[in-house]
Amino acid sequence: MCGIVGYIGYREAYPIIIKGLKRLEYRGYDSAGVMLYDGESIKLSKTKGKVSDLEEKAQKEITTNGTIGIGHTRWATHGVPNDVNSHPHVSNSGDLVIIHNGIIENYAPLKVELIKRGYSFSSDTDSEVLINLIEEVQKKENLKLGKAVQVALNQVVGAYAIAVFDKKNPNEIVAARLGSPLAIGIGEGEYFIASDASPFIEYTSNAVYLEDGEMANIRLHRPMKVRKIKDDSIVDPYIQELQMNLEQIEKGGYDHFMLKEIYEQPSVIKDTYRGRLHANEGIIQMAGVEDNLEKFLNAERIIIVACGTSWHAGLVAEYVIEEFARIPVEVEYASEFRYRNPIINSKDVVIAISQSGETADTMAAIKLAKEHGAFVFGVCNVVGSSISRESHAGAYTHAGPEIGVASTKAFTTQITVLTMIALRLAKAKGTLTHSEFHMYLQELEIIPEKVKEALETNDKTKEIAGVFKDSPNCLYLGRGYNFPVALEGALKLKEISYIHAEGYPAAEMKHGPIALIDELMPVIVIAPKQGHYDKIVSNIQEIKSRSGKIIAVVTKGDTQVRELADYVIEIPETSDALSPLITTIPLQLLSYHIAVMRGCNVDQPRNLAKSVTVE
Ligand code: M6R
Repeated sequence: MCGIVGYIGYREAYPIIIKGLKRLEYRGYDSAGVMLYDGESIKLSKTKGKVSDLEEKAQKEITTNGTIGIGHTRWATHGVPNDVNSHPHVSNSGDLVIIHNGIIENYAPLKVELIKRGYSFSSDTDSEVLINLIEEVQKKENLKLGKAVQVALNQVVGAYAIAVFDKKNPNEIVAARLGSPLAIGIGEGEYFIASDASPFIEYTSNAVYLEDGEMANIRLHRPMKVRKIKDDSIVDPYIQELQMNLEQIEKGGYDHFMLKEIYEQPSVIKDTYRGRLHANEGIIQMAGVEDNLEKFLNAERIIIVACGTSWHAGLVAEYVIEEFARIPVEVEYASEFRYRNPIINSKDVVIAISQSGETADTMAAIKLAKEHGAFVFGVCNVVGSSISRESHAGAYTHAGPEIGVASTKAFTTQITVLTMIALRLAKAKGTLTHSEFHMYLQELEIIPEKVKEALETNDKTKEIAGVFKDSPNCLYLGRGYNFPVALEGALKLKEISYIHAEGYPAAEMKHGPIALIDELMPVIVIAPKQGHYDKIVSNIQEIKSRSGKIIAVVTKGDTQVRELADYVIEIPETSDALSPLITTIPLQLLSYHIAVMRGCNVDQPRNLAKSVTVE
């Protein structure tokens, strides 16, 4: 959580930082701040609220120019979102300034110690403790900034991506990371520091992603020096050529990133299977799977760890891997898995699913699995992310940057990757017949066209959104492959419209939730023709006889459900196993329209952040 940006070079730093912070707002947006060094003094502006609020305030507070600066957009951990707790934080002497993404877990005893030594604190943050610890180390041992940062970081427990500036030596920024991402853009005579590469994509395509436990001395007109924080050993940084482009991180004419990302799904699903799926030849090829096929085939079980939407994709994968490849699958919330002393052994394959590749709980679950000797396969979207690096092997989803906090294209591309894995394993094990295997390949190849068709439900979902936008509650029901879709539909509605929603397996309804149903309760039922159609029709009848309002997602041409439902949304037909890729589309659109009609901030829902890098 939190986004950080820094610049040191020859351009005006302020606009680069502000624009960069706006691109990183998906990481947190409850307060923001900027520091600029104008050649003589430090100029600081920070405020509760969004980067646009900061811009307004900074216009009055920062009136000079400078070519060095740092900025921060915050998702509060320690201390409520207010002006004082906003970053950057300044040390007691006024010389050192820090921006920090992460948590210093042992900040309390460090703070007590610093207070004893005469330091005072104006904020409630752990970050203000860290900058004063750096100052204390610097003074006591008469160290240069880089060394002082290193010594201080060796005393802290926790996670961080930081950038530190020292007024006494203003041609340098020191950056370091442990557990939170940090990219350094390398231009001609300039450097950029950011939580991801989006703030500097138009200036350079060369970037170094610091590894955990590394720090960098970034000096003007000098090559950057990277070293290990722990033992001071020098690291030869790997300069990566970025594949991201500007268009991918802009709204491209859509009102919101979420809507743009919903509409991108036909093309990004194609990107996901491009070069991997060859339907006519009957081939599925994924390097990470091919290279480790034996591990998958010898696995006694597959354990999937993930959070949120990625966990829902994991549930779909459980159904599809078990059905296609007949390998037992367990799906775990990463946050539970890591703390419940799970039984893991070297015959387990652990699949970690994460859009951002930075989710702290998923990362910790991977580490635990590795400690027990399991083989870890990462399914991530963000190239070079921590989880992709920590995994033994993996497959990227190639969805492109997902900026809306609510995951949409991440979900469908994760399902695409996981379905391809299931098919590849099924082929190797012979658990699908030749014709079944070919049918699924052909069907997967034309899924983007069907997703495109499903997007045509936009007007219908908007009309339904208008009817139900003020409902306080909503129930989502699905069976089989579409039970996880019901969970995902409910999560989408909750997170962006703040309507209470629950997803349930349709048959479980009569074991409790049916008591909630009355004429005011909208019930969204996912009822495609394939799958347990007759059973779900019975469930719909049960809702109808209790006067619930039924919104049914049905296969085109359906007549039976149409007779029972108050509203129907028609989607194209596909096989049961691939149906989540289609049924989820109208649910994404429905939550989007409801949120817009309720005046909610669709791309930046309250209390949330895109990547949850704290546990
Ligand atoms: O980046 P990750 O996939 O690991 O993120 C996990 C969840 O935080 C995430 O899926 C979250 O639930 C969604 N943004 C909700 O739409």
